[in-house]
Amino acid sequence: MTILTQDMIKEAAQYIQSKSPVTPQIGLILGSGLGVLAEHIEEPISIAYQDIPHFPQSTVEGHAGELLVGSLQGVPVVLMKGRFHMYEGYGPELTAFPVRVMKELGVSKLLVTNAAGGINTSFAPGDLMLISDHINLTGKNPLIGPNDSEMGPRFPDMSQAYSRKLRDTAKKVASEKNVPLQEGVYVGLLGPTYETPAEIVMLRTLGGDAVGMSTVSEVIVARHAGIEVLGISCISNMASGILDQPLSHHEVMETTDRVREKFLSLVLSIIPEM
Ligand code: 6GU
Repeated sequence: MTILTQDMIKEAAQYIQSKSPVTPQIGLILGSGLGVLAEHIEEPISIAYQDIPHFPQSTVEGHAGELLVGSLQGVPVVLMKGRFHMYEGYGPELTAFPVRVMKELGVSKLLVTNAAGGINTSFAPGDLMLISDHINLTGKNPLIGPNDSEMGPRFPDMSQAYSRKLRDTAKKVASEKNVPLQEGVYVGLLGPTYETPAEIVMLRTLGGDAVGMSTVSEVIVARHAGIEVLGISCISNMASGILDQPLSHHEVMETTDRVREKFLSLVLSIIPEM
């Protein structure tokens, strides 16, 4: 376990502030293949993860390691193009470190996106799913260890991990824009293997609608820090055992590519309403 101190968070934040005068209100973390939003940032300042003090480095294909500061639809934002996953070997506290830094920069709301496998058989690849809640089956928690009460409480409330208010806003915007939006429970697993068909049956029985390998540690740290969260999954493929075909990262990237415009239009309209 890496202990992440206030000093490390402040050093990272100060470095970012030395590159951009913007005080971001909203943080965005973009999942596999969903980085297009980055191209729409006005007057972006781009900072490589490797240049930010104490930042881990992203290793997976389809994830560029770049932090952008600027504005989207006039709203000051900080955006992570590519995230850190526990299957890369990072501890949960490291995968969520950027969320702490975002908080230090002034962020009060976080939009997390990911590519996820559909467990709910009424879903289809290419669907967008508003995350109503999550089930953390990673076996890890980024808050394990001594609690710094300046950062948040020892036993954080998770009863609205994904803000009802922000979900209502997202639903309103989606219906105005005629973008179909599913809603469901995201199950976070460690990976890097996709699940077995038996595991998917289990996850469905437990109440899961979609499954992925990210997001939960970031959301836990965001809630600890008092940040409100909105989450959107792109259903990139059906989970194991639903269709008679193997799963591949290639399919994940192909679907997120196909969904790009719909995703972009929805998120760009949600941001000013958040
Ligand atoms: Cl089917 N499972 C997991 N764990 N992550 C995924 C996925 C499936 N599809 C996209 N990401």
